Amino acid sequence: MASKVKVGIIGGTGLEDPQILENARLIENVDTPYGKISDKMLEGSIHGVECVILSRHGRAHDINPSNVNYRANLWALADQGVTVIIASTACGSLQENVKPGDLLFPDSVYDRTFGRKITFFDGEDGHQPGVCHIPMHPLYHEPLRQILISTAKSLQSSMPDLALHEEGFGVCIEGPRFSTRAESRVFRSWGAAIVNMTMIPEGPLAKELGIPYAPVALITDYDCWKDDAEHVSVELVSATLRANADKAKRLFIEAIKEIAKKDWTEEVKELKASIRASVMLPSE
Ligand code: ADE
Repeated sequence: MASKVKVGIIGGTGLEDPQILENARLIENVDTPYGKISDKMLEGSIHGVECVILSRHGRAHDINPSNVNYRANLWALADQGVTVIIASTACGSLQENVKPGDLLFPDSVYDRTFGRKITFFDGEDGHQPGVCHIPMHPLYHEPLRQILISTAKSLQSSMPDLALHEEGFGVCIEGPRFSTRAESRVFRSWGAAIVNMTMIPEGPLAKELGIPYAPVALITDYDCWKDDAEHVSVELVSATLRANADKAKRLFIEAIKEIAKKDWTEEVKELKASIRASVMLPSE
């Protein structure tokens, strides 16, 4: 029999609306071996499917991308027994055809962060034991990514202004500052489609936990490479998010139905086996 599905949702800027949950309740006093999570999690259901929402930057948006405790966030969701995690993230565009307001389903990331805690297996007491060399391709769980894509396509009939991009990689910068024009143009010349500050280490950490994970990028700006477009600023990102957050919200609400139809048992088994094969334990 297919096991029951529970969906973890990491809400980026603009997707932290508790109203999307039926019977919402706060999960209080969560602690993890990796420290405190960004905020209280909310649990409830969407279309009868159990869901847990966690706001990446805190509901007051007071945690900067370098200070988000990604390890604690992911660990806490795993502890709640989520089967899969879907995440939204605001991104700048590095390509002309990827426009503010569009959705893009990233397939990989170029890591330009520094100093973040990117593994659960860090040799510290009480943390995951051993050294984990987990493969990073595919970074995101392809069947889950495809569910998000097909759901977004099916929404286009009722949301004609929903434009989507099925592939493209992102550059994740450390932040909190935005990129210089030189950086922006170099990232663009590498062929990157988007730039943001949170894709690392969220995806890699989900892999270390063996939880299917896929993000949707909500495009908010053209960063600062383009002469004839407004350059990125907090004001621009917030305004574009406000105008378009409904797209990601509707996408998640609809995708959850599809996610719940699938039996993830074998896939999760495979991911866990890949972790076992990637961890080197000290010899006795
Ligand atoms: N988030 C939204 N827009 C961004 C940009 N241009 N650079 C980095 N992070 C972003």
